[in-house]
Amino acid sequence: MNLILVGPPGAGKGTQGEILSKKLGIDTISTGAMLRAAIKNGTEVGKMAKSYIDEGKLVPDEVMIRLVKERLSEPDCANGFILDGFPRTTAQAEALTESGVKIDKVLSIELADEIIVERLSSRRECSKCAAPYHLIFNKPKVDGVCDKCGGELIQRADDNPETIKNRLNVYHEQTEPIKEYYDKLGLLVKAYGQEEIADTTKEVFKALGLEV
Ligand code: AP5
Ligand code: MG
Repeated sequence: MNLILVGPPGAGKGTQGEILSKKLGIDTISTGAMLRAAIKNGTEVGKMAKSYIDEGKLVPDEVMIRLVKERLSEPDCANGFILDGFPRTTAQAEALTESGVKIDKVLSIELADEIIVERLSSRRECSKCAAPYHLIFNKPKVDGVCDKCGGELIQRADDNPETIKNRLNVYHEQTEPIKEYYDKLGLLVKAYGQEEIADTTKEVFKALGLEV
């Protein structure tokens, strides 16, 4: 399955992507995680992307399209992939279509803006493997330590109320139109975000026709 996850910041793309990755046995490609790794490693892409991410703006299309094309040409993607956070503009969606990559489904995780700011303020992320946690809904076994790799849990630099507001505006203005783009291609399905992660997973599996 070649799957795209769409949704506002904090909708649960990373969280559900990880669950789907295990269920389907395919990798998740998170462009946000790729960019944060690039920043951490001090690469040219990372240096360029930092100011955009810190302000909650989108990194320019041409950079993202090149990055994703390179990643999708790696051998593991031949078995299927889950794209989390790409495409994020109509230009990115068109470039993906033009590159000949076949997409089976586009899953939109829907969540109201009001819930998002509060939810993201309690998010934590592993500084090593980027696994997502939440101080209430998805607690690590040991405070501040990643269950999977023992890495330190940190708060993302763009998870402050001001930047979250910018990211939400950008989502509504620049990313939401891709839902219509994929709806016209007959690929869009929707799942409504619930208060508990497991309940959202049920909605996600239902939308994708997977057994719960
Ligand atoms: P990116 O990293 O993709 O961030 P985002 O889209 O803002 O989404 P988030 O990662 O914040 O949320 P999520 O939906 O993954 O939610 P999560 O599962 O963590 O992008 C960051 C930046 O990179 C962008 O702003 C942009 O600058 C740049 N960028 C990336 N891709 C780009 C592109 N293609 N083009 C241009 N620029 C690009 O869940 C959130 C929290 O809630 C977690 O703590 C989780 O545990 C918890 N949670 C999840 N589900 C539930 C639930 N049902 N109930 C309770 N808690 C829950
Ligand atoms: Mg994410």
